[in-house]
Amino acid sequence: MIVVAIDGPAGSGKSSVARTAATQLGFGFLDTGAAYRALTWWALDRGIDPSDERAIAVLLETFPYAISLDPARERVSVGEVDVAVAIRHPQISLAVSAIAQNLRVREWMKESARTLVTNSGFPGVVAEGRDMTTVVFPDASTRILLTAREDVRIKRRAGEVAGRDLAETTASVRERDAKDSNVVDFFTAAPGVTVVDSSDISFSETVSAIVDIVRAGSDL
Ligand code: DC
Repeated sequence: MIVVAIDGPAGSGKSSVARTAATQLGFGFLDTGAAYRALTWWALDRGIDPSDERAIAVLLETFPYAISLDPARERVSVGEVDVAVAIRHPQISLAVSAIAQNLRVREWMKESARTLVTNSGFPGVVAEGRDMTTVVFPDASTRILLTAREDVRIKRRAGEVAGRDLAETTASVRERDAKDSNVVDFFTAAPGVTVVDSSDISFSETVSAIVDIVRAGSDL
């Protein structure tokens, strides 16, 4: 099983780059942020405060989470509910960091990601998040930190969310990066992690850079 671990901050383009790289490699794709978002969605749906650590820990015990690792199908569900669109809502982006700082949640997410990858049925999986290279898959065949300058990340995020102005996006990206980096450092590459800076290269160049690194590190 080949694991390609990719970390990076909000707006670095990780998800779309990792998904396309997975398609080109014939691998599965795992967006680990989706699980943090889905748990946040579930908590809010049930009227539970995402920063209530104990209530969230209890909720986690019966979290009916499912995600497809097929890069061609974006399917994320909580029980019977398809939450793929709902978890991208700005309200979730705002609340998700509280969930991501809960250490019980992080432990659950780690085990869940490892199980999903092991049972994926693909010859390899590209897994992206904040702690893939350091905590979840420190022994992955390829480990990459995908970065971009802050101004570039903010512009990309503003483009993704319709109707959002730059000042609002700047505040939200900065706030989330600051909160998220309390628990994991995804701005500095751990030893053995290759840095890919996407600030001044196109989307397809970024994908190619990643696919080349994976191929160079394996017999593909
Ligand atoms: O990548 P994203 O924006 O969908 O991630 C959503 C949140 O989940 C983000 O605020 C940080 C957190 N996260 C994390 O802490 N560790 C991961 N491996 C993935 C996401």
